[in-house]
Amino acid sequence: MEAQQDVIAVLITDHHEVEEMFSELEQMSGQTSEQAKTLAEQVVIELVRHSVAEEEYLYPAVREHVRGGDKLADQEISEHADAEQTMKRLERLEPGDADFWPTTELLMGQIRDHIREEENDLFPQLREACPPEQLRELGTKVQRAKKLAPTRPHPSAPDTPPANKLLAPGAGLVDRIRDALTGRGRS
Ligand SMILES: [Fe+2]
Repeated sequence: MEAQQDVIAVLITDHHEVEEMFSELEQMSGQTSEQAKTLAEQVVIELVRHSVAEEEYLYPAVREHVRGGDKLADQEISEHADAEQTMKRLERLEPGDADFWPTTELLMGQIRDHIREEENDLFPQLREACPPEQLRELGTKVQRAKKLAPTRPHPSAPDTPPANKLLAPGAGLVDRIRDALTGRGRS
């Protein structure tokens, strides 16, 4: 049985994983390879998965427990929407396009601001206001949701293609991954 981490610990681990992927992406900056495109797609999948987890499990708890939580949650959600617009621009670009790397940098800046705000302001307020058992329950839910959407093939299961290869073609990557995670559009 895995140790029960609270939702804040789980999301901070997510943030570190995002930052690692950003560093990898930054090392490729300016390259026009297929690898850069694949990594950018993995970053987008991870960010959408993280946003959906926060929207489903974090912000409702913020609204319920934190004083002024509605305003805080609304602000975070509007930042997610801004970042998602950037991701939708990015998903249509190839590393050879002039806008590819500037758009990638814009996205990383938006996400880094968002992460800083959450870790410095939102998380401490929630930890103060929300009962620890509830934070642990939410942590379990986020971890469960995470297993349903692996960003990269698991090293011990090399035959499992990453999520972007499993999704139906058609709509853009951001919409497809969001639909797959939330069940949107399912009857
Ligand atoms: Fe976050």
